Amino acid sequence: MQRTAPHFDLASVRDRLAGRRVDWFECVGSTMIEARNPLLPGRIVVADEQTAGIGRHGRNWYSAPGEGLYVSIVLAAGATPVIMLALGLAAREAIVQTTGLTADLRWPNDVLINSRKCAGILAQLEGGAIIAGIGINISQPGFPDGFETQPTSLRLEGASVSRENLLVALVEAVDRSTALGTAEILERFSSASSYASGRRVRAESEGRTIEGFTCGLNTSGFLLVREDYGKEHTILAGGVRPA
Ligand code: BTN
Repeated sequence: MQRTAPHFDLASVRDRLAGRRVDWFECVGSTMIEARNPLLPGRIVVADEQTAGIGRHGRNWYSAPGEGLYVSIVLAAGATPVIMLALGLAAREAIVQTTGLTADLRWPNDVLINSRKCAGILAQLEGGAIIAGIGINISQPGFPDGFETQPTSLRLEGASVSRENLLVALVEAVDRSTALGTAEILERFSSASSYASGRRVRAESEGRTIEGFTCGLNTSGFLLVREDYGKEHTILAGGVRPA
């Protein structure tokens, strides 16, 4: 039987985000690809379903029809040097604002609820712009096997929010957070994230896995991790996992 895509009130979203180009698709490979053409700063590309959702580190992003917010937002390049952290702050803020849930940030920008990931973000440089891709798990009743650690959804955490309201809150939060200066972003991230300081983590550094306690962000937004015998590492990529 053919599935009817759940209704998405595009007119209301366009109304509330006046002046922004918002494109809605029932099914795409990835909104990251769709956002390239036309590549217009400010443009917002949303899909009901992605058949090849792109995650960080070459992973796929689980994008079942109607269950999540799958969105790419085109930003003017150079909006801020710590864009990944600013986007994480925005996603967390939109989730907290629309659901009342408590959410954490795992460096650089995974949004966690009760220690499980409910939103992921990637940013790609494309032709002088940045395409920010944000996936938020909204109404998944569960997830298939095969995840390294089981994710969560807002529904599994007891919250109900429409994709439309979450999208509008997210775009407004992205506009606010990407307009902040670097120092302000670093300060806000450090207070919002339990991972910024004092968390025991594993991470990749200098070609090996290290373990130690996080000890803040440097001025470029990279995470510092101190091994037990004192050597401090700057984590440049790859994220961290609790140890
Ligand atoms: C991560 O691995 O944590 C990042 C996931 C980013 C997923 C979003 S969903 C909307 C956009 N389109 C994609 O194909 N990926 C991003």
